[in-house]
Amino acid sequence: MKPVKVGLLGLGTVGTGVVRIVEGHQEDLLNQVGSPISISQILVKDRTKGRNIAVEASKLTEDPWEIVRNPDIDVIVEVMGGIAQTKEYILEALERGKHIVTANKDLMALHGPEILEKAREKGCDVLYEASVAGGIPIIRTLIEGFSSDRITKIMGIVNGTTNYILTKMSQEGAAYGDVLKEAQELGYAESDPTSDVEGLDAARKMTILSTLGFRANVSLDHVTTKGISNVTQEDIQYAKQLGYVVKLLGIAERQDDFISVSVQPTMIKKSHPIASVNGVFNAVYVHGEAVGETMFYGPGAGEMPTATSVVADLVAVVKNMKLGVNGRQAQLSYNVVKLKTDEQIASKFFLLLHVEDRAGVLAQIAQVFSDFDVSIESVMQPSMPNISSTEIIIITHGASKAAMNKVLKAFESLSAVRKIKSVYRVEG
Ligand code: NAP
Ligand code: HSE
Repeated sequence: MKPVKVGLLGLGTVGTGVVRIVEGHQEDLLNQVGSPISISQILVKDRTKGRNIAVEASKLTEDPWEIVRNPDIDVIVEVMGGIAQTKEYILEALERGKHIVTANKDLMALHGPEILEKAREKGCDVLYEASVAGGIPIIRTLIEGFSSDRITKIMGIVNGTTNYILTKMSQEGAAYGDVLKEAQELGYAESDPTSDVEGLDAARKMTILSTLGFRANVSLDHVTTKGISNVTQEDIQYAKQLGYVVKLLGIAERQDDFISVSVQPTMIKKSHPIASVNGVFNAVYVHGEAVGETMFYGPGAGEMPTATSVVADLVAVVKNMKLGVNGRQAQLSYNVVKLKTDEQIASKFFLLLHVEDRAGVLAQIAQVFSDFDVSIESVMQPSMPNISSTEIIIITHGASKAAMNKVLKAFESLSAVRKIKSVYRVEG
């Protein structure tokens, strides 16, 4: 039986897991695909570096072209990360008829359409299940499981690092910087963790999910993005008192033909199933017109969960090879994106204001909301030791983003409001 030969680009957190699964599950894999799967070459940056796994030294190379141009290699598994150079390797591999499995959301969010087009031209597979939500098979679910439905909303905790940080801040009162360091040590964070904490990693994943879910050519520029670096312990504690949890949520919505996609720290009602997704776990909530509400849950990062998705893609590629159906593209054409305006984007909002503590201030604040037709759901004023100023927490009923922006602008010129300390979208 001729083995299927794999070239592995990267032997870091995910690459190590891939080797462990391919070697450890050989018999199961053979039973599924009918051929042994052999990792024949591995790209690393530094061959002399100590590894967490024993691999034959002769398999390691620092020259990507040695793998990409090796005629014996059938499938390239890309788990090295990076964008421009990595894209070059993948396009060249496709040109040479090799199939691709990748965990690289940065690459797929930015260059997915070009790479998939090349794959179509060459009759090759490009599978990228691990690029979103680590061990949760959400990409296959959106492409196949929901092919019969019209999805109206995708809401996800799709970044494990930030969920880990927010969970520890909320449950243990831990300091942001300490938990970030822990997440890096556990292999959850990106090589530059700014992309995790500033929401870019989640935005790239939401680009991929909304492209598939809405069958539309969504690009990263369409995603409004805000990270968690300004979330304070105070916000988290006020949210708790009001029955909410702070989560970095990706929210993609479709109404008629208009869509909006955003990533932002959001206060979500404790009773919503996504509010109890903690630690490095991810979850993707999908609402379809026909199916109603569904939710998918699992580990969103880390060596073995991510490698599970990568190897599952590898199995799918090899099965396609056996059946001679590689290059079958799930989506033939895409809807053109029509973005919702700020008038059309609506949600509830949480506001934390630092205000003067004197007669009439609450009335002035209420007047501003009334001027822009934003209805207040609840107001809380904690008793403060300082007699000249205090804090006011307001949760609104559903309001358009445009109206809320006008309220915030008006507060900037209202002397009774000393500072707008925080503003959050509220869900659930
Ligand atoms: P990592 O631990 O930093 O590993 C990267 C590997 O690629 C290393 O083995 C490194 O070699 C090699 N490499 C990087 N740049 C190279 C270059 N220019 N030339 C040769 N070798 C190079 O990264 P990772 O966490 O495994 O992530 C890999 C990919 O999976 C990324 O796209 C990431 O976004 C994605 N992903 C990661 C997770 C996760 O939980 N970590 C989850 C889902 C998706 P050396 O070992 O010699 O340095
Ligand atoms: N840095 C990413 C995260 C890895 O924390 O979710 C998984 O894509």
